[in-house]
Amino acid sequence: MLGDLELPNRLVMAPLTRMRADADGVMGPLNAEYYAQRASAGLIIAEGTFPHSSGKSYPGQPGIETAEQIAGWRLVTDAVHGAGGRIFLQLMHGGRIGHERITPGGGRPVAPSAVRPEGEARIDGEKVPFDEPRALEPGEIPAVQEQFAQGAQNALEAGFDGVELHSANGYLLHEFLSDVTNLRSDEYGGAIENRCRFVVETARLVAERIGAERVGIRLSPDQNVNDISETESRALYPHLLGELNPFGLGYLHMMETPPDSGWSSVEIARKSWNGTLIANSNFQVDWPLELADETIAEGRADLICYGRRFISNPDLVERIRSGAPIAEADFRTFYGGGSEGYTDYPSLGSAS
Ligand SMILES: Cc1cc2nc3c(=O)[nH]c(=O)nc-3n(C[C@H](O)[C@H](O)[C@H](O)COP(=O)(O)O)c2cc1C
Repeated sequence: MLGDLELPNRLVMAPLTRMRADADGVMGPLNAEYYAQRASAGLIIAEGTFPHSSGKSYPGQPGIETAEQIAGWRLVTDAVHGAGGRIFLQLMHGGRIGHERITPGGGRPVAPSAVRPEGEARIDGEKVPFDEPRALEPGEIPAVQEQFAQGAQNALEAGFDGVELHSANGYLLHEFLSDVTNLRSDEYGGAIENRCRFVVETARLVAERIGAERVGIRLSPDQNVNDISETESRALYPHLLGELNPFGLGYLHMMETPPDSGWSSVEIARKSWNGTLIANSNFQVDWPLELADETIAEGRADLICYGRRFISNPDLVERIRSGAPIAEADFRTFYGGGSEGYTDYPSLGSAS
């Protein structure tokens, strides 16, 4: 059980940005087909979606802000529920990972501090260095937190079973946690408890708004993507979990720390987290299916999350059950495009 949701198996489909919404961030029938094909997952966590246009990171990324975006997602949730599935939406404010040419209306990306990420945004086939973000003014913080709460409300209106707060992979919430991207001197920066404050307050607000059991949170300690890094993660994350525990959130979705970090975030989560724990590997290590089995059998996590395997195996659950071969995903069609590499991966026994 996950809140009042009964999950038929312990396999979770990871949030996977596929950049196939239209230019206004609206999903359509093709996206509905893609998600419905994967409805046998115990739980689908739909891709990182901006709750407010200022948090858009990628062209083709969906939003959950406008009436059109809500209606587009409704096609997806109806299709998934119609196929017997369950689906949460990942709420992702991209923070400094963005560009004024991507943000609708052209605003500069916002972040805890004006620290420009190394790397480039891809816009219309062109690589453009990331902008230097604008540091959020203290007075703006409640409004950004409210964007998450409103996004969560919109997600329920669109028919989602709940939301996952994206506090991983170098986007806004993670940027507040990191001592490299958060150089603030107000109550949201500095000491560990201050750097956790934005995430804790946001989680509390969203939980109060839609019910804690409908809210999950994703964390990725020491995950060096989007030019983020952390120096005090072994102290910060247990503290953060301690602060989140009393809210009774639906789940914690923990990405495993990379091999060179010297500690296991999933292990620490099991010790410090009171609720349901979803474990996922990370970008560097591909978890073999046997390891997932072991993790569940030994009680190291309650649910296992796979990303890339769900891209190329819509019926992953069935394949694992029956020991059928697992197809490899083609990274060239991960981001953007149409049905190729999206809805055309066959299920066992299907004609396509
Ligand atoms: C194409 C692609 C898109 C992704 N998009 C997201 C995303 O929107 N949100 C997120 O939290 N993680 C995202 N990730 C990370 C995955 O959720 C997952 O953590 C990662 O792929 C490791 O799991 P795996 O080895 O099972 O693929 C993405 C990964 C890939 C390959």
